[in-house]
Amino acid sequence: MKNSPYLLSVTLATLAVLSAPVMAKGKLNVLCSTDTDWCSLMETTFEKETGIKVSLIRKSSGESYAQLRAEAKNPKIDIWWGGTGDPHLQAAAEELTQVYKPKALSELRDWAQNQAKVSGYRTVGIYAGALGFGYNEKLLSAKGLAAPKCWKDLADPKYKGEVQVANPNSSGTSYTALATFVQMMGEDQAFDFLSKLHKNINQYTKSGSAPIKAAANGETAIGITFIHDIVKQVKKGYPVKAVAPCEGTGYEVGSMSIVKGARHLKEAKMWADFALRPDIQTMAAQAKAFQVPSNKSATTPEGAPDFSKIKLIDYDFAKYGSAATRKHLLQRWDADIKSLPR
Ligand code: F6P
Repeated sequence: MKNSPYLLSVTLATLAVLSAPVMAKGKLNVLCSTDTDWCSLMETTFEKETGIKVSLIRKSSGESYAQLRAEAKNPKIDIWWGGTGDPHLQAAAEELTQVYKPKALSELRDWAQNQAKVSGYRTVGIYAGALGFGYNEKLLSAKGLAAPKCWKDLADPKYKGEVQVANPNSSGTSYTALATFVQMMGEDQAFDFLSKLHKNINQYTKSGSAPIKAAANGETAIGITFIHDIVKQVKKGYPVKAVAPCEGTGYEVGSMSIVKGARHLKEAKMWADFALRPDIQTMAAQAKAFQVPSNKSATTPEGAPDFSKIKLIDYDFAKYGSAATRKHLLQRWDADIKSLPR
């Protein structure tokens, strides 16, 4: 009786009926390029609210773009959420992503709507962040080194081996830095500066925020990252200080794009609308994410860098997010900088 095949099939049928509504709610594959804490918070909140099962992986912006490109004929990802806007624009230009006008588009700040317009609505801005650098004040003073204030200071030989930054091929942060230097100095002077800076670099990391985490842990004195990533370490109680460079600096429009040929398109659109809601953007503070949110009604987290006090350049997103410019600058960085002796 216990092992009756009849009973077993009735039980299985009952189970199938009971679990049917859960299964019917769908799946979503997300590629996430913000910090992991924020990725996880978004994943669990979306799952709880919709019942949709999210499968999420975290990759840096340049790596995410490379994955979408490699999978173009057979996409495994439905939506790419977060990461610097330049590679999202490149993906849009190559039609790796698809047109979608989210419900909240008109509620977004100009820079976020502009990102959508420039891409023909294949991507949209979800947050903004300014580039800078941070230093570990204890480590610098123990070494008898003055705190740097300007980009040019970072190339001073006295900081030999003391600076860390990511590789611009994998990291959107580092590509933003590369594009910023080119826009501020002109291309040849920027590469000259980068070759001097290279002598001071102790490591090119994969992820953009890794250098400031390393500075917080005392593994490097200085890290070039977005200022909001430095604020995160300050809030965690580490002895790091953020610098908005004296010459001025570039910024990112963190973006989101639905993948062309997404297998779970309905769910991807649901995520896109969810991610632009003011209550969801306001929640970022819980994950210690200090970017400026794109929805005008979202609350900017306390401690987020005040853009009105930072000298921002007029970053040319259309040019520096274009496939031709990105490819050219990254190839030149590989050829002229990466291979130089230190
Ligand atoms: O979440 C932190 C963050 O700095 C984002 O603001 C940015 O879009 C992303 O990381 C860039 O990461 P990476 O440099 O690793 O591509």
